[in-house]
Amino acid sequence: MSDAGNETDPQSAIDAQGERRREQLDGRIFEHNAGDQQDGIPFVGAGPGDPRLLTVAGKELLEDADLVVHAGSLVNSELLDEYCEHAETVSSIGKDLEELIPLMRDAYEAGDTVVRLHSGDPAIYGAAIEQMDALEHEGVSTYFVPGVTSAFAASATLRTQLTLNEVSNHVAFTRPQGKTLTPEEDHISEFVEMGDVTTCIYLGTHAVADTMDRLIDDGHDEDIPVAVVYHASWPDEDVMVGTIGTIGEILEESGHRASAMVIIGDAVTGAGYERSFLYDGWANRGADSDDEDDESNGAADADAEKTETTQ
Ligand SMILES: C[S@@+](CC[C@H](N)C(=O)[O-])C[C@H]1O[C@@H](n2cnc3c(N)ncnc32)[C@H](O)[C@@H]1O
Repeated sequence: MSDAGNETDPQSAIDAQGERRREQLDGRIFEHNAGDQQDGIPFVGAGPGDPRLLTVAGKELLEDADLVVHAGSLVNSELLDEYCEHAETVSSIGKDLEELIPLMRDAYEAGDTVVRLHSGDPAIYGAAIEQMDALEHEGVSTYFVPGVTSAFAASATLRTQLTLNEVSNHVAFTRPQGKTLTPEEDHISEFVEMGDVTTCIYLGTHAVADTMDRLIDDGHDEDIPVAVVYHASWPDEDVMVGTIGTIGEILEESGHRASAMVIIGDAVTGAGYERSFLYDGWANRGADSDDEDDESNGAADADAEKTETTQ
């Protein structure tokens, strides 16, 4: 529990929670489904921007909230105006854990309904779990409410799929090297090298030209398609489509330096795919087909369990 005047250091709280998690699984994993309303502070995904892309669960939680701590400029103010009319709204920008944790904890312990609102989905580059661990360590329960991540909004804008039969069998969510990732931890070139991966780069708008230069230096085909979708689903959304060889200059001309999703790979164009196994010979597949839950391309996994198709 909180101990006024004797604040827990967030890093010790994170370490303690990590240790606890390593020792035993959290019982709540088996008690709740994603989407259940639970006790505590929900960490809600706001979606990519358009208020209509917030989940129904997220909307209901926001409408009930007294305090909403949100992710600043990446959360559309229209969404806050529409759903947080009765709540105090506070941006987390410029606040460290030492400020954020007591802010949420004290409001919660005073009986307020508190929501922590992240952009997109909190599980992707959201730094949500460190806040949750610090709160849990202080006796405040927390849980995730998923949202639409920006890569999915960008693929909808581009009218394509991130996985495409015979074109892209895998998707990588990644970020470029910089303050957080060392050059050794930057795997963009390896994903591109694999050929059938759609690479979605978060937090990389400012680094597109450098990233493309590195790909060219590594010998990748300059004609590989690249799209940059700025503010996917916002009223000022902007779409730039080019190739590894051209996108740096195209983006430079647009002036965008942040808040864009960069997608590399042939899936960007949606061209060249083959019809899927799923909708081919459907009537003849029988109950023993081995492509579990496959709505995609039917690439059969030999080890898959018995089929439980989604249609
Ligand atoms: C801190 S990360 C948060 C990602 C977020 N949790 C998500 O799931 O989309 C911020 C990065 O997400 C991407 N991003 C967030 N919202 C976006 C949008 N509406 N359109 C394009 N990219 C977006 C940008 O790459 C931005 O630099």
